[in-house]
Amino acid sequence: MLQISLEGLETHVAVGTNPFVQPRTERMLIVDDEHFIRDVLTQVVAGEGFESGTAQNAQEAIRKLTETKYEMVLTDIRMPGLDGLQLLQHISSHYPEIAVIMITGVADLDAALQALSTGAYDYVTKPFNVLELRNKIHKALGRRRLVVENRQYQLQLEQTVQEQTAELRNALGSIRNAYSHTLEALINALDARERDTQRHSKRVSEYTLLLARRMGIPSAELVDVERGALLHDIGKIGISDNILLKPAKLTEEEWLEIRKHPEIGYQILKGIDFLKEAARMVLQHQERFDGTGYPQRLSGKEILLGARIFAVVDAFDAMTSDRPYRKALTYQKAREEIIRCSGTQFDPQLVECFLSIPEQIWLDTKLSLVA
Ligand SMILES: [Fe+2]
Repeated sequence: MLQISLEGLETHVAVGTNPFVQPRTERMLIVDDEHFIRDVLTQVVAGEGFESGTAQNAQEAIRKLTETKYEMVLTDIRMPGLDGLQLLQHISSHYPEIAVIMITGVADLDAALQALSTGAYDYVTKPFNVLELRNKIHKALGRRRLVVENRQYQLQLEQTVQEQTAELRNALGSIRNAYSHTLEALINALDARERDTQRHSKRVSEYTLLLARRMGIPSAELVDVERGALLHDIGKIGISDNILLKPAKLTEEEWLEIRKHPEIGYQILKGIDFLKEAARMVLQHQERFDGTGYPQRLSGKEILLGARIFAVVDAFDAMTSDRPYRKALTYQKAREEIIRCSGTQFDPQLVECFLSIPEQIWLDTKLSLVA
């Protein structure tokens, strides 16, 4: 049975024809299988200054939504074919910015409440009171404006964050480039003096990383350990050619000069902000676990973990590389020597860890750098 309270309707129909009614920007889609209801609703919304379209079922509504932009849908719940709840679902997932008001018979109150919980803005029960309907339309549109503004604000915010993230990423990329160019320049400077330094430095830094990861050093700290290993002998830049490149045996005095290279390296690097940690490792890379190293004669855990790790792999690389005066030692021989020096030159815990890494992995790491 169709009932409509006409309270307020005449006024609104009258206002609808009144040229002084403010036209509104929002457009309504009215969906009802009953012609009379569609007409009444069309007049009510026209009376409020809204333009509207109509559809006699949900399928037609879905098609019209693809053709025209609507801000609000007033839909019946009970309709042949797809019902109002299914239409609501479609609108919620495809047009989240459309406000939906359900029109329902008293018997469908449960359905109306279900609609509210799945995204409808409001509902009116038939027979409906025009004034009440008018108020609900304005209230729903007010809420929708807030939702839309909020969503636009969110989108803007996301866009700003995205833009700033991209800018930061670019800046970081440039800094990283500058870092690696600085590192390269430092290594090249040393390589120009002592050939093959670069390959040795690269190998020991890879070996250091391998052992450091096995020791569970957090990845955030690995970068400093890697740089420290890469630059360990940078201080040799400050040692004169006569000593550094001397083909004959060094005198005691010349050895003392060579032994200054960790400190010289430290002085070079400590002023470069991103190399501060690496500088400490450079300073300590010639220390020995038993305290007989140089320059500070640190012992045990006083020596940075990175420098203790480095000591093991530096010796390993030196033993397994060809030298002008001898061929490279086999892995087995180098391993025996490392075990022999455990507790004196090397931290026994790190020797254990070194031994736990299979020979093939050391070999693969070395070969990956040759390629
Ligand atoms: Fe050194």
